[in-house]
Amino acid sequence: MEDVTDTVFRRMVASAGAPDVFFTEFTKADDLFGRRSTLSRRRLRYTNAERPIVAQIWGNEPTSYRDAARLLRDRGFAGVDINMGCPKRKIAGKGFCSALIDNRSLAAELIAAAREGAGPIPVSVKTRIGTNRVVTEEWVRFLLEQHLDALTIHARTAKEMSEVPARWCEIARAVRIRDGLGVDTLIVGNGDVLSLDMLYRRAGKSGVDGVMVGRAIFDNLEFFSGGDFRNRPPAVRIRRMREHFELFEREWGSSMNFHALKKYVVVYAGGFPGADLLTERIMRATALEQAVAICDDFLGGSRC
Ligand SMILES: Cc1cc2nc3c(=O)[nH]c(=O)nc-3n(C[C@H](O)[C@H](O)[C@H](O)COP(=O)(O)O)c2cc1C
Repeated sequence: MEDVTDTVFRRMVASAGAPDVFFTEFTKADDLFGRRSTLSRRRLRYTNAERPIVAQIWGNEPTSYRDAARLLRDRGFAGVDINMGCPKRKIAGKGFCSALIDNRSLAAELIAAAREGAGPIPVSVKTRIGTNRVVTEEWVRFLLEQHLDALTIHARTAKEMSEVPARWCEIARAVRIRDGLGVDTLIVGNGDVLSLDMLYRRAGKSGVDGVMVGRAIFDNLEFFSGGDFRNRPPAVRIRRMREHFELFEREWGSSMNFHALKKYVVVYAGGFPGADLLTERIMRATALEQAVAICDDFLGGSRC
């Protein structure tokens, strides 16, 4: 997830219970080359703890896709995923990502270019079920004809953003289309999966080969191990937050704005006495050392 699941957060997830596959934040294929490449390639950093990891790319330039996929293969990624789902106006409005749902010829060209660069590693697409209306039947059929290794379906249209419940019946429909065509593309379902129980129920009912989990990781860092991070003693949680802060410092140093860390506080703090004050103090902090000292202050006074 853009601006959230960097290598540091992925390592925090990995140590709490790793998923079977990690995905990077989406990275614009053309930005991996040229003057933006230093910034852009930061998104491709990962450690062994995050393996297997698939890199997600976006853009509209087939040659950049080919070159990007080659770079990703050389950097040891387990696969290349193409974003055809982002609904943000400033992106889809320019013909990128979810807009490709209505631009099939370019979508096919991009997939072919990625495949050429990726060589032996798998190529997948993550998409939605339409732009303004549900078009699962024709869009999924079209994508499956491109011989993808995997297809992740976020079961909402672009217009719906995240404002309506995900339509898992459309994901089940995609599985039936795949079975009907007799191709071996793996189908991965995505949307509103809040717990491991729910994940297995949804997978069982829809027949998918895998489930992608997004936002639920913010509510439960131990999602993938079946634990319940919110029920851990406050001191355990704040120690983990401190660890995140320190990892961030080690990985990014001054190259990343400290304030970017503040969005993670909700992952660790909340629902225990003193949590609001702790959160408030961290939100007011102006430097990482201050945030770490606030954690220490809390931990010093905590008896668990
Ligand atoms: C902050 C944020 C960033 C996201 N960034 C990406 C992204 O870079 N690539 C992508 O394919 N989807 C991205 N998504 C969409 C999620 O991957 C997922 O499709 C969506 O949140 C629905 O799944 P969920 O209910 O499990 O969160 C993002 C979602 C959020 C909330």
